[in-house]
Amino acid sequence: MKLKKGVPLIDQHDQFGFWGEKFGGSFIPETLKKPVEDLTEEFKKLRKNKKFIKKRDYYFKNYIGAPTSFVKLENLSSHLGGAQIWAKVVSEANGGAHKIYNATVHALLCKAMGKKYIVGDTGAGYAGKMLSMAAKKFGLKCKIFMGAKDIKRQKPNCDAIKKNGAEIVPVYSGSQTLVDAVSECMRYWVSNCDNTHMCVGSTVGPNIFVKICGWSTAQISRELKVQLKSEFKKIPKKIKLINCVGGGSSAYGFWSEFIDFNKKQIELIGVEAGGPEKSKLHAAPLSQNAKIGILHGAASYVCQDNEGQINKTESISAGLDYPGVSPIHCFLKDTKRARYTYATDEEALNAHIMVTKFENLNPSLEPSHAFAEAIKIAPELSKETIIIVNSCGDAKKDRDILKERLGKN
Ligand SMILES: Cc1ncc(COP(=O)(O)O)c(C=O)c1O
Repeated sequence: MKLKKGVPLIDQHDQFGFWGEKFGGSFIPETLKKPVEDLTEEFKKLRKNKKFIKKRDYYFKNYIGAPTSFVKLENLSSHLGGAQIWAKVVSEANGGAHKIYNATVHALLCKAMGKKYIVGDTGAGYAGKMLSMAAKKFGLKCKIFMGAKDIKRQKPNCDAIKKNGAEIVPVYSGSQTLVDAVSECMRYWVSNCDNTHMCVGSTVGPNIFVKICGWSTAQISRELKVQLKSEFKKIPKKIKLINCVGGGSSAYGFWSEFIDFNKKQIELIGVEAGGPEKSKLHAAPLSQNAKIGILHGAASYVCQDNEGQINKTESISAGLDYPGVSPIHCFLKDTKRARYTYATDEEALNAHIMVTKFENLNPSLEPSHAFAEAIKIAPELSKETIIIVNSCGDAKKDRDILKERLGKN
């Protein structure tokens, strides 16, 4: 199992859609064969089409607001000592998180395929909010599937979805979180694929959805590469790129331009949800050595019991509360190109408090997991080491959880 240089990771799968022969694939019912093939063909064509790329870049710049800024967290760095800590402030993107890149590309694909309806899943509410924004922008009718537990804990994003004119379909099955929302959304698509396009909100699902999402979020690392060269004149010698990992779309987007670099120069660190300290539940399939299973149309490491039933997960962060993970991250783990660890709910909360105290940043609970790892390792590292955290979401959506846990507005 080897990574290829010079080939985007999203394209390093075999003819059956597997990365490293084990991860990914397209486990879909017969009814979806044709729409998935059509989407695959359309994407293959459009990603090489200069007009389409121009349109994408136009909306990335003029609608999403690319590039987002790259800033040094001077107060946090001097408080901790050791490495310099920087942030790529992706939460500045229109809507407040990276999910807008994938949503915009899916809306453009939906239009190109002549479909008028678009559906999608959401956990933290950002994927849903962004899809509803893109649907409104491009004149599409939109339905968002969301677990009932997440509807309660992410109210600000639900309000935004409704304000954008989209319908929220509450999902009451299973744990009433992201995993159930994705299942229900896929079930809906099976019966409505003739006139409806489906957007999967992360780099998960059947092969083509992993590719589209990764292709969309890769914008983040293209920007960062330019910003690093402009800030340091060349790519520095010791960098650590830290990103939270739920399905894995922000991490892939943040890393994609840097995967070919030597890991001694650029280390890739993914941080999963370790869950509450006192609980055995977590949402960390990579760092807790879960076994390979099939979830939502693809093979990946999945939190499961001995009979292969999906385990219940728990995390303070709705966006990371998912038992599976992208096949491309499974491949990065097995090839040892990336290192995966986890942060507990308490560590993420503390990181959120510390970052907001020292800096003019308000990271949501998902990137707060990545900040927790940065805070842990920075003091032991040299001043020449540059830690960059992808601050991929804004905490406005976490208002109620933060109030409940920290007892203030
Ligand atoms: C702000 C934010 N960060 C991270 C995630 C995790 O998803 P992914 O791993 O696909 O980036 C989510 C998911 O909803 C999110 O909203």
